[in-house]
Amino acid sequence: MKQFNNSVSVSAPGKLMLFGEHAVVYGRPCLVTAVGQRMKATVELTDEPIFQLNAPDVQVINYLKPMRKLGIGDIPKGARFIEIAVKNFTHARPGLVKLKGVKVTTQSEFSSLFGFGSSSASTVCVIKALSELTNADLNNKAIFNLAYKTVLDIQGKGSGFDVAAAIYGGTLYFVIGGKVIEPLNIDSLPLLIGYSGIKADTVSLIDEVSKKAKKYPEVIENIYDNIGKLVEQAKIAILSKNWQTLGELMNTNQKLLENLGVSAEKLNNMISAARKAGAYGTKLSGAGGGDCIIALHSVQGKLAIKKAIEAAGGQIIDAKTNVEGVRIES
Ligand code: PMV
Repeated sequence: MKQFNNSVSVSAPGKLMLFGEHAVVYGRPCLVTAVGQRMKATVELTDEPIFQLNAPDVQVINYLKPMRKLGIGDIPKGARFIEIAVKNFTHARPGLVKLKGVKVTTQSEFSSLFGFGSSSASTVCVIKALSELTNADLNNKAIFNLAYKTVLDIQGKGSGFDVAAAIYGGTLYFVIGGKVIEPLNIDSLPLLIGYSGIKADTVSLIDEVSKKAKKYPEVIENIYDNIGKLVEQAKIAILSKNWQTLGELMNTNQKLLENLGVSAEKLNNMISAARKAGAYGTKLSGAGGGDCIIALHSVQGKLAIKKAIEAAGGQIIDAKTNVEGVRIES
């Protein structure tokens, strides 16, 4: 018989979109990999009917709210995902133990500015922890459903690829809402990650693209279709470690993102510097406007590409890809 603990620590990885951003919001598949910088959350069940949160990475210090008021009134930006995750878990009532009070402390190995999906990763950590503490034993798909609902409650839009990466880890072929979550059996991806120093605003970029789609529906649908086709080919290239082809596909995906209007000068500069330095391929990763680029490199080419990205003003983020998903730490 499993013991009921009242505290648990959980971690989940960040993510990087490899292929298919934006088009994934409109039903085409994407490829995402989990990155080896993790979000950690310690969750404690308490006897007082209070929700408490400390998330120093996003400037939330000793935030308190009565449990019955979860989701009601003003919520500081850095507390939104965790508060709504606790609310959604409470309402779903999956566990054997009733939640009286919940205390959450988060700590991230990565900056929330990188676009690694800190909000989704912390949402996943909290739901996994509550599942463990209440003996709900939610499986990955049930955790996905609650975490994705939380993201939609707050953002109103999004495919859920970041939630899937935080839960399943590895590298996934993914379709919106978790209609398909297919882990790809690979061991590593030779990727360099370059941070642009600019924070991307995912929701407003989705809105901009959707405005364009209303104005030029056929043109934009056609771009989504082409991105979807690239994703299918990229899946085959990844599985067969055909880096040359994968690189070409990355460059083509980048062109299509430029046509959607989501790239940015800084990203373009970093991308062309990495290409000139010999990358197989390179593209922005995520919504665009800022955040990171990814560059596929050979073993010999790595250093030169790294230096080229830095010379173009990018910051290299040293993180593995294809890492383990959510896990209990202690
Ligand atoms: O900005 P990011 O890294 O969270 O990526 C957004 C990717 C989109 O396809 C634009 C949105 C989504 O939820 O899939």
